[in-house]
Amino acid sequence: MNLPDRITVVEVGPRDGLQMEKVFIPTGLKIEVINCLSASGLRCIEATSFVNPKVIPQMADSDEVMRGIDRRPGVTYSALILNVKGAQRAIAAQVGAVRFVVCASEAYNQKNMNMSIAQSLAALETVIALCVPQGIRVEPAVSVAFGCPFEGDVPEQRVLELAGACAALGLRHICIADTVGLASPLSVRRLMSALREALPTCVFALHLHDTRGLGLANVLAAMDVGVTVFESSLGGLGGCPTTKVATGNISTEDLVNMCDELGIATDVDVEVIRRTSAKLQSFLGRPLPSHVLVAGTRRALFSQLADA
Ligand code: COA
Ligand code: ZN
Repeated sequence: MNLPDRITVVEVGPRDGLQMEKVFIPTGLKIEVINCLSASGLRCIEATSFVNPKVIPQMADSDEVMRGIDRRPGVTYSALILNVKGAQRAIAAQVGAVRFVVCASEAYNQKNMNMSIAQSLAALETVIALCVPQGIRVEPAVSVAFGCPFEGDVPEQRVLELAGACAALGLRHICIADTVGLASPLSVRRLMSALREALPTCVFALHLHDTRGLGLANVLAAMDVGVTVFESSLGGLGGCPTTKVATGNISTEDLVNMCDELGIATDVDVEVIRRTSAKLQSFLGRPLPSHVLVAGTRRALFSQLADA
């Protein structure tokens, strides 16, 4: 396999991981989790979202979260937004970057954002005009890129066109999201290589959910075609309000552990992530879907054996 020397892990747990949790996680705990994540070596953390708090009550404290976290130098704290109002709130909260979502399926865009794809793209232009002069990077995500629970297969051409539309607006960092966990190593390989070929000056990140157990297999397939930025969530938390079938993101500790085993640098300390997931797990009171959280790493096991 063609494996990279290093990858960038983008932590989306504080947003994607927590947004569907029914019990409100106290703001102080959210802040503590984000501070632990930045102490682990992670350099990109999606800290929250600026959306309608009536729709996503868990993210109602996004302003307080952004005010309360320690801003570690070298770490970009980003937020997900879906409209212009979100951009205005994110700017006021001094985020480092915004993640703006456009769906590759008209039905999903309508259900999640209450807008057509064309309306989302028009809003994106305004978001760029507002954010870029403030030094805030705009990073679009093309969501449901590998299939939609309402429309079925998503044509590769549509994802290429949407990514191309983002690139035409001057955006170079584009995330491709398997929002409901429908990607397979073959579709990842096909789509990511087509995107890299069509838009060679863009940097593509891949956002994966482990809904059907293919998460890390999809990471390997993407690495093999040159993708080096991956989004994951501590503890394997995650979900989307638009569909019940999206379960957690790929787990950050599982992703980092796999990279450690393969000699791929991440600069992330897996044990710090694991301890942070354990903290959230005990607050939530149910087992989280992360393998390394349950079993520990091979290295930790072997060092215990050596000590015994
Ligand atoms: N932040 C806070 N409130 C917002 C908002 C934002 N970014 N955007 C809209 N609102 C509020 C409006 O102020 C208005 O409030 P009111 O009822 O008190 O008057 C209400 O939402 C409706 O505004 P409108 O512009 O008509 O938006 P909408 O109803 O079309 O909602 C979304 C669109 C996208 C803002 C909303 O559905 C939403 O936030 N969804 C969350 C989806 C999500 O987070 N999915 C997971 C991540 S992909
Ligand atoms: Zn997601």
